[in-house]
Formats: sequence, C-alpha cells, structure tokens
Amino acid sequence: MILALETSCDETSVAVIRDGRVLANVVASQIKLHAEYGGVVPELATREHLRNLLPVARAALAEAGATLADLTAVAATRGPGLPAALMAGFTSAQAVAFVLGKPLFGIHHHEAHLYSPWIGGEPPAAQFDQFQPNVSLIVSGGHTLLVHVRGELDHVVLGGTLDDAAGECFDKTAKLLGLPYPGGPVLDRLAGQGNPAAFDFPRPMLADEGHDFSFSGLKTSVRYFLEKRPGLADDPQALRDLCASVQAAIVEVLAAKTVRAARMLGVKCVTASGGVTCNSALRRELEARCAKRGLRLRLADRSLCTDNAAMVGILAERKLRAGHAPTPFDEEIKPGWALAA
Ligand code: KG4
Ligand code: ZN
Repeated sequence: MILALETSCDETSVAVIRDGRVLANVVASQIKLHAEYGGVVPELATREHLRNLLPVARAALAEAGATLADLTAVAATRGPGLPAALMAGFTSAQAVAFVLGKPLFGIHHHEAHLYSPWIGGEPPAAQFDQFQPNVSLIVSGGHTLLVHVRGELDHVVLGGTLDDAAGECFDKTAKLLGLPYPGGPVLDRLAGQGNPAAFDFPRPMLADEGHDFSFSGLKTSVRYFLEKRPGLADDPQALRDLCASVQAAIVEVLAAKTVRAARMLGVKCVTASGGVTCNSALRRELEARCAKRGLRLRLADRSLCTDNAAMVGILAERKLRAGHAPTPFDEEIKPGWALAA
C-alpha cells in the first residue's frame, strides 16, 4: 500500500494506492482562497497545504481503511512546482517514510500526469499494453507538453510551450473578458452557447511542423480585438461568441498538433491529462480527430485531470514494481525539474 502526497500548486491531495487501484484520493482545492487575488498566491498556498495536509491524510487513510502500519512505501511530488508548496508535501512524506523505515519516492509532477488517464477501470498493467506507445498531451495552467510515451516509465518530451501555458491563455483571456478566476471552466461554459466561427483568432504555431506551442500572442490578439471594440463583451451573446471563438483557436492548436505528432511518430494511441483536459471542446475535438485518423484515445477522467495524489501514487507503484531506486532521504525538492527531453 502506498501513501501519496501532492502539493505542487494549489491542491492539497493525499491518496492511498494498492495493486494499481485507488483506495482513496482526497483533494482539498484552494481555488476559492486564491480567486480574490486572480491567481495562486504561493505564500497562501503553502500555509493552506500545511493546514490541510494532516486532515486530508487522515481522511484518505480512513477512506482506504488503512493505517500507517499498512504502508509499504511513501510518495510525494518533488517538482516542478511552487518551492514552498512542494516542500510542505515532500518534507512531510520524507518524515513519514523515515519514521516508518519505508522507501520514499520523489515523483515528477508531469510524469505523474502521464499516468492519470490510466486510473480507473482495469488495473494499469493491462491497459499499458493496449495503449503504449502513445503521444500524450499534458495541458494545464502551468504546463503544456507533448510527450512520446515509448513504453512504461519510458518517455521523451517532444515539445512544450515557448511562453504561456494553454490554461494560462484561458485564464488570462477570461480576465480580459471580465470573467472570474479561474477563467477556464467559466469560459468553457459560456462558449457552449456561443458560435466558435463568430470571430477569427490566430492559431499560433499550427502550421509549424515542430511540437512546440505558443499562446501569449493569442491572448494579446484578444486584447487588441477588445480595444478596437469597446463594450462588445458587455453584450451577453457577443461574450459567448467571443469565448467560443477563442476556445476554438486554443483547442484546434492543441488537438491538431497532438494528433499530428502521433501520426508523425506512427503511434496508434493518444492520451491527455491536466486541468485543461476538462475542457469540453478539447475533449470533443480530440475524439473527432482521433476517430478520423483511426487512433485510440484515452482521456483522463474529468475528476483526475486536475492535480491529484492518485496519479503520484500510481506512478510510484509502477516504479517500485519496476525496481527503481527510492529517493534518498537527503535529497531535496526540485522546483524547476524538467521532464527528461
Ligand atoms: O492541472 P491544474 O489543476 O493545475 C495546474 O497545474 O495548473 O489546471 C488548472 C488549469 C487552469 O488554468 C484552469 O483554468 C484550466 O486548468 N481549466 C480549464 C477547464 N477546467 C480547468 N480550462 C479550460 N476549460 C475547462 N473546462
Ligand atoms: Zn498539474
């Protein structure tokens, strides 16, 4: 049984994993706390992690019907993320592992995201065989990555964003439109009643054959667009059309480049995770493009797209079974840890 902790940003999460199954995955989200500041405030996030970790861990162990004595290993996100926030979870996990005399696994947050589409349903091992190799899109407020998963615990980063992450583009555009934080889900909801062809926004780097993204120009073009049409966003239908049009631009770039990467590499499967994978248009677009190209698609369940400890624990269990060495107790957090290129 593995106890896993995730505190890289604004979710305090503790999970209990056994044999590829999630016995508990408790997530305390801080979204409301940061909403009044319009973004995550690192100092507040850290204090909240420290406040929440123990009750969240107790709740996870109770839900799993487990005690600390049942644990075979402890895992925690080691990076990348907000330094002090990472420290809260990683140091706690170190302490638990040290006291119990059990191995500790310091987990890469993005590598963990690669595993969230596999959670639920059949135990992961059965699914890995069906779905690997694959091309995986990891897309959230902090990251936008395309990864070639060659096999279990074996991946290569194909590309990433050169500036803003896709979720950041959703959030910043929503802010320009006067919508509350975090803007992604609100924009998604309004876009559902809007016309995606109403306004034409650029599709940055869509024509580029490489696997990188760039979203800061798109946000800027929305700003210029609004400056030229003051008051447009005050009209409810124009606002919905704007949301749908911006969303269509972001989604087309993400889905088209992901599917193109899969075709270029000759893999038969695509997976996606990260907060933006909750976006209904992105899910639909990936489904349509994968179906058209005969690719299998595995999207993380909406509840597991955003940050959670279940994915950290599932990956730690795979590493433990594959005989990977645990993380020595004197190792520290890695806030800027890049996924192996
Ligand atoms: O994975 P996540 O919880 O945290 C980060 O690591 O950033 O992702 C949060 C991001 C935010 O930018 C949020 O606006 C975006 O995911 N997001 C969405 C949707 N739900 C969450 N973006 C677009 N549409 C959604 N439905
Ligand atoms: Zn994340």
